[in-house]
Amino acid sequence: MNFLQLVEGKRDGAIHSDAQIKEIIQGVVSEEIPDYQLAAWLMSVYFRGLNDAETRALTLAMRDSGTVLQFPPDPSRPVVDKHSTGGVGDKVSLPLAPLLASLGFRVPMISGRGLGITGGTLDKLDSIPGFKTAVPEDKIADIVERVGCCMMGQTSNMVPADKRLYALRDATATVPSINLITASILSKKLAEGLEALVLDVKFGSAAFMQTREKAQELADAMETLGNACGVKVQAFLNDMNTPLGRSAGNWLEVLESVECLENRGPDDLRDLVLQCAARLLVLTGRVPNLEAGMATAQACLESGEPRAKWDELLEAQGGDLRAFEKKLNAPVAAFALPIEAPSSGKITACNARTVAEIVRDLGGGRAAKDSVLDLNVGLAAMKKPGERVEQGEKLCVLYARNQAEANDNAERVRSAWKIA
Ligand code: URA
Repeated sequence: MNFLQLVEGKRDGAIHSDAQIKEIIQGVVSEEIPDYQLAAWLMSVYFRGLNDAETRALTLAMRDSGTVLQFPPDPSRPVVDKHSTGGVGDKVSLPLAPLLASLGFRVPMISGRGLGITGGTLDKLDSIPGFKTAVPEDKIADIVERVGCCMMGQTSNMVPADKRLYALRDATATVPSINLITASILSKKLAEGLEALVLDVKFGSAAFMQTREKAQELADAMETLGNACGVKVQAFLNDMNTPLGRSAGNWLEVLESVECLENRGPDDLRDLVLQCAARLLVLTGRVPNLEAGMATAQACLESGEPRAKWDELLEAQGGDLRAFEKKLNAPVAAFALPIEAPSSGKITACNARTVAEIVRDLGGGRAAKDSVLDLNVGLAAMKKPGERVEQGEKLCVLYARNQAEANDNAERVRSAWKIA
């Protein structure tokens, strides 16, 4: 392969063939293509774009650059998953995986860690005593077949092309290309061996795509590409101007997920979990429409089976159930500070970006890739837009490592809320 010619071609608007894209991805994984040429190609793609056929070829070549999970064919237990473009307080994956397993799906859920203001499912799971998210590849299928779901990090052999490309995109200002984003996200999801995928695409102040229009563009591109790659994909848009649920912070979000599994907790979280499950029920032909899907998912949640499934999942992945139960009833963090409303009125906003930045700065998120987290800090019992508060009433509770850090952040926390 003469990669320089391909870079020149893309720079001048040429279309790559399937074979050329396969060669590029081989060169990415073997490291035969040096970083400087790959960076030039990424920038050409950023400006020139890829057509549908090129994006499909890129996605499939990236998927096939490493291990692709395979499950025994079983039409009665479709292999499904959910992807979210990332939000604040977004713990949907935690209750959703056991709910889907209880509905009879198989769910090999590969998740990531948080970086910057985005929370990561793996960090939340790390707050559970003993739970292991590094699952050896030969154990994944066993857990998924037995329990119905497995929640883990990407193994080192999965989609190696994306690891190299993503790191270079990050360093060359080429992340925000819809073609490269869709190929990156879908190649990883397709490597799970899925039949159907639901995509929760966020828009708003704390979202990857800040405007509704951009989020819709990404949602449409993901649906088109997923369906072209042989996976049933449905994307839907969700607001990320306000945190999801009432808590943000790793362990605090596990607590709220358990409430959700017990059919308690915030309505917006439960609704989004049910929506994801309902859409997968429709996509896999198990129910005729969304309404029937919502009713089926709600009945399953009320049965208590997903809560029992959660314990089963914890045990299958090394979780210590006794220590977990003990932690559920223990104080959350070293220091808890109630934050009081400065005036009475109706809450008109709770800024998700501010909340996320505070949680990160308290030690609950990563400022850099190697930051060490405090999994117990965060905000809980957050009041939501539309609710009324009286002056002096609690807007939320701030959990910090010590009193000084709590006091230092109190005013900033208060500033996240607008009261009219
Ligand atoms: N998430 C991914 O996995 N890849 C992207 O390119 C963007 C977000």
